[in-house]
Amino acid sequence: MMTELLDKLKTETVLDRDGYLSLIRNRAQIREYAAGLAGTVRDEVYGKKIFIRGLIEFTNYCKNNCSYCGIRAGNDKADRYRLTPEEITGCADSGYELGFRTFVLQGGEDAYFGDDILVPLIKDIKARHPDCALTLSVGERSYESYRRLYEAGADRYLLRHETVNREHYGMLHPGGMSWDNRMQCLRNLKEIGFQTGAGFMVGSPGQTDEDLADELLFLKELKPEMVGIGPFIPHKDTPFADRPAGTAELTLFLLSLIRLTLPDVLLPATTALATVDPKGRELAIEGGANVLMPNLSPVNVRGKYLLYDDKICTGEEAAQCIECLKTRVEKTGCEIVTDRGDHIDRKVRN
Ligand code: 5AD
Ligand code: FES
Repeated sequence: MMTELLDKLKTETVLDRDGYLSLIRNRAQIREYAAGLAGTVRDEVYGKKIFIRGLIEFTNYCKNNCSYCGIRAGNDKADRYRLTPEEITGCADSGYELGFRTFVLQGGEDAYFGDDILVPLIKDIKARHPDCALTLSVGERSYESYRRLYEAGADRYLLRHETVNREHYGMLHPGGMSWDNRMQCLRNLKEIGFQTGAGFMVGSPGQTDEDLADELLFLKELKPEMVGIGPFIPHKDTPFADRPAGTAELTLFLLSLIRLTLPDVLLPATTALATVDPKGRELAIEGGANVLMPNLSPVNVRGKYLLYDDKICTGEEAAQCIECLKTRVEKTGCEIVTDRGDHIDRKVRN
């Protein structure tokens, strides 16, 4: 029964809400089957290639106050930092030598990094590394700002929607943030031409199986080029400090359902997943993931970009992580490649 439903999903690349819901509820019986199918689909689209993205966490200042996040404005224990443009380009330069051809600039919503600073920074990185893609992950901004960042040369943008359920969004984000604005930002990014990434946390406080079924339907409709998911992990200095973490098991199953629903999607095995399960990245790759995003931030700030507790690799140099990951990926029969790793529809921009 459940395996037939998975076969149907593989063939038709969508199910109705009840279909997704019964897969999620009955996943214990079909986890391995789902992972196998999703791995096959990834192989059909992208082969055994695993794309790497060099993550540069350039500021942990944030004006928002998301209840789950360790760098929320209200956490006065967070040790705040900003990298200078020279430090940021330095991270990209050393990442290039290690084989990275995509850099991800990620930060909190920090007003210091207005367009006046980001635009020249983007142009500089693209001028130094014209064969690389640049991804931004800097939260909600105006349509005009997104357009300027795109015109400056940014190729991709990550903005997780966090939850498809408006009420649930309100519970995760007290105060000024709005679900409607988040969704509008995603539509704006797509319209402007960014390869766009959406996503959500698995097992965030208040999330239901129905919400997860709706997440899959929503992703099918939005068709983002990238989807980032990882387990919710509590951070000790947030309102959700005592909430249970999401599980690797459910995250892995959802990764496989996402691969089957959006066969072409760029799908990372996230650091949060590896934090809750030491085998998480390998299992994710076996179950259809095709992206890894190791950290290129200078080691002296690594331990400060803490969205959740017990984050891995805060003491390792980028070069150590890349060696570690090569070994891990090889064991899955896949291979890390030196490649921009664009979405298959977007091999060449313009
Ligand atoms: N646990 C797991 N993921 C988190 N994020 C933020 N806080 C946490 C947490 N406590 C995720 C959010 C955000 C991304 C950058 O990190 O989904 O979009
Ligand atoms: Fe950083 Fe393994 S990836 S040590």
